[in-house]
This record gives sequence, structure tokens and C-alpha cells, in this order.
Amino acid sequence: MREQRPIIALDFPSFEEVKAFLHLFSKQEKLYVKVGMELYYAVGPEIITYIKSLGHSIFLDLKLHDIPNTVESAMRVLSKLGVDMTNVHAAGGVEMMRSAKQGLGQEALLIAVTQLTSTSEEQMRDYQNIQSSLQDSVVHYAKKAREAGLDGVVCSAQEVALIKEATGKDFLCLTPGIRPSGADVGDQKRVMTPFDAYQIGSDYIVVGRPITQSDDPVAAYQQIKEEWNAE
Ligand code: C5P
Repeated sequence: MREQRPIIALDFPSFEEVKAFLHLFSKQEKLYVKVGMELYYAVGPEIITYIKSLGHSIFLDLKLHDIPNTVESAMRVLSKLGVDMTNVHAAGGVEMMRSAKQGLGQEALLIAVTQLTSTSEEQMRDYQNIQSSLQDSVVHYAKKAREAGLDGVVCSAQEVALIKEATGKDFLCLTPGIRPSGADVGDQKRVMTPFDAYQIGSDYIVVGRPITQSDDPVAAYQQIKEEWNAE
């Protein structure tokens, strides 16, 4: 189930900046946006209510990780906000992921973070004391997320093929680190173009700065959307 709209990462620190950004788009253009911790903790649930009132879809990226009961209760609260997708850390365990799904219900998609892309294999071995390869750990967590009844994972575009092979074609892969050809990569280490992400089977792409920091965000969005939907 591929989503044709690129998800725009609304990495802004204030309500005013989000409003100004969203007002650049025509009222008819229904977007899919990602609200992360900074914005959600700065503004609170009303940011979700506001974005929903404009008719946009929302991925709430809060990466929950706690005991199963607490995560289930928190997800019940988030489900009332009407978000379309949210996430948890797979490291919280199968029981926690099942409880999260239970709390969230069937209306929204629930995906898991496997290993953060900021974690190197060396860090994973020394700090987490996981002695496999980073890829094996990512695939392991993806399989556990599927077992727990989740809908997919956040992963790097380079991992999509392996994850789909291990979990099934319909297990969703949402990939950040997307840059249109020729764009500034910023602090992202491994990037992929929207077209390549489509070719390797990503179901959702998340794009932030190439759109939000562009001189013409609407044109940048349209260009990325076209590249993502090109056959
Ligand atoms: O600006 P940029 O396109 O790099 O933004 C990508 C978004 O996706 C940011 O909100 C970032 O936190 C998020 N993200 C990521 N890599 C991950 C997980 C999330 O870049 N592995």
C-alpha cells in the first residue's frame, strides 16, 4: 500500500512557523505531514487538532518506549487525537508493541523504529551489547514488530529489500533520508532520491529540509512528489 504523497517533516519549533508554512499551499492540496517531538512538546495536542482541521494527514513521530501498560494508555490518548500513523521503539519488546496496537486501535497505522540511524554498529555492540551485525539487528526487530501485529517500520532506504524479504511485501517501510537529485544532503549520511526509493519498494518517504528550507516550498514539494510517483 504505497502512499503517493511524500510525508513532509514539519521540524519547526513553533505553531506560528507551522501555520505560515502550511498557508503556502492551496486549500485543496491535502498534505501528509510528520509532527515530531520538538513541535509536539512545544505546542501540545492542539497542533494535531489544527493540522487535522485543514484536512491533512498526520504521522505523529513520538517513538514511545515504556512498560506495556503505560504505552497502551498513552496510545489510547493519541488515538483520540485522530492521527493517521504513530510509532514505538521495537526495543520495548513484543508485549509492549502489542499493547501499543491495542491502545491505538485499528484506525491508525503503528510502525516501529528498529535501530536508530544515528547508532553505529560499534555503538550497538559496545553499548547495547548486541553482538550481531547492525543489519541483522534491524531485520530481527522488524520481524518482531510484524509478530506483534504492527504495520511496518521506519528504516533506511538501503534496508527495505532485506526487511520485505524477511517480513513480507505488505509490511510497510517508511524511509527518511530522501534527497532529490542534486540537493544538499545536510547531516544525512546515506541518502536516496525519491525515484530510487520508489524503485526499491519504499511505501512512504519522509522529506524535511529539502521542502521546508527551500526558497519555494510548494515547488520543491511538487517536484519531489512527481519524482516519487514517476514510473
Ligand atoms: O530534513 P530531513 O529530510 O533530513 O528530515 C528527515 C526527518 O526524518 C527528520 O524529522 C528526522 O528526524 C527524521 N528521521 C530521520 N532518520 C531516521 C528517523 C527519522 O531522518 N532514521
